[in-house]
Amino acid sequence: MAEPRRFPAGFLWGNATAAHQVEGGNTNNDWYAFEQQPGHIANGDVSGIADDNFHRYREDFKTLRKLANNAHRLSIEWSRIEPTPGEFDARQLRHYRNVLSELREQGMSPMLTLHHFTSPLWFTARGGWAAPGSDEAFLPFVGRVVDELGELVDLWCTINEPNIYATQGWIFGAFPPARRNDVRGAWRVLANLRKAHEGAYRLIKQRRPDAVVGIAHNKFWLLPARPRSVLDRGAVQAGRTLLDWWPMAGRRMQRTVAASADFIGLNHYSGRLLRFNPIRREFGTQLNPPGYPISDFGDAIKPDWIREALVELKRFGKPVYVTESGIATTDDSIRERFLVDILAEVHRAIAEDGVDVRGYFHWTSMDNFEWSHGYRMKFGIIAVDRKTMERTLKPSAHLFGRIARANALPEPH
Ligand code: FCB
Repeated sequence: MAEPRRFPAGFLWGNATAAHQVEGGNTNNDWYAFEQQPGHIANGDVSGIADDNFHRYREDFKTLRKLANNAHRLSIEWSRIEPTPGEFDARQLRHYRNVLSELREQGMSPMLTLHHFTSPLWFTARGGWAAPGSDEAFLPFVGRVVDELGELVDLWCTINEPNIYATQGWIFGAFPPARRNDVRGAWRVLANLRKAHEGAYRLIKQRRPDAVVGIAHNKFWLLPARPRSVLDRGAVQAGRTLLDWWPMAGRRMQRTVAASADFIGLNHYSGRLLRFNPIRREFGTQLNPPGYPISDFGDAIKPDWIREALVELKRFGKPVYVTESGIATTDDSIRERFLVDILAEVHRAIAEDGVDVRGYFHWTSMDNFEWSHGYRMKFGIIAVDRKTMERTLKPSAHLFGRIARANALPEPH
């Protein structure tokens, strides 16, 4: 019989969320404003009360604990903590103190993200992340969070997916401020986010030298459609460089990671095969590899991509956490297959390739507000009735629980 595929002792098993997607009642940030304008969100959805996790976090954490989660990734909402510049809301800080304490009491290690796509309205009114000095405007909030909540946080994640944030907001127009093809703007945003990350890293370490601080970087996996074609390979190289602009690109990235990351967070969902196409203005036609599960976004998910992405991160010599990995599907049996196949690849990256992966945060616990796709896209292992807020575990929730409890994958049949 095959050996059980065990994960290292102390491996973290958790789910990831972001404040705006689950809390509800966030009315003081740029996403709220964006949602009110017609045409931005699928079906005209607004985040509204989201999953009402702001009020239901205790029972939600209890459910995750029953599913043997020993960690949880969540974000703190800047616009709640600092509703006007330089003024901090003690009640909101107390709320997050309760949230983090509850996680700890229930035996889950918190990974706290400081910026997960949303910014206070006062900040965006001053030009948001494209504005000079925006990195510095972020730091008083970081300092206050570290001072007030630092002892409750095990892992810090400064900024979520700078590359997705900048491209969706400044190139594709799908996130606020809904700019299109503003390459200069995107570049300024990336540079400011990098500086904000570095500043936050320094600040957290100054105040809590033992803190463990990293970033979450999205790697959408590109491969040549015709592996021998120089043109396809060139297109892939160009695409990867663009997606790894910040913080993963070139020497700058090496320096950023060496000097200001204790770990690297990998957010990985899907990828595409790229075929160089000189006729269309983009550098490649994107294709799905045949024979793999397709998410509701229309992307194929080839499980070994995550292994390749993990192996690529090995060269930085830092521990890695999978900070997000999941699939949008209304067919939970696809999610079950996804979990087993993806985790088998994560296991291979650890056991065969020697990547120092310390934990896996599935995106996500509950179906939630999926940004411009609204509530249509279902990533959760737990369903939420949008009228009653009732939670129902899907089969994938039980499967995730069994894997987490065993710290091992089920035997292949
Ligand atoms: C990631 C985001 C996360 C969620 C997933 C599906 O890019 O970080 O908030 O929307 O995609």
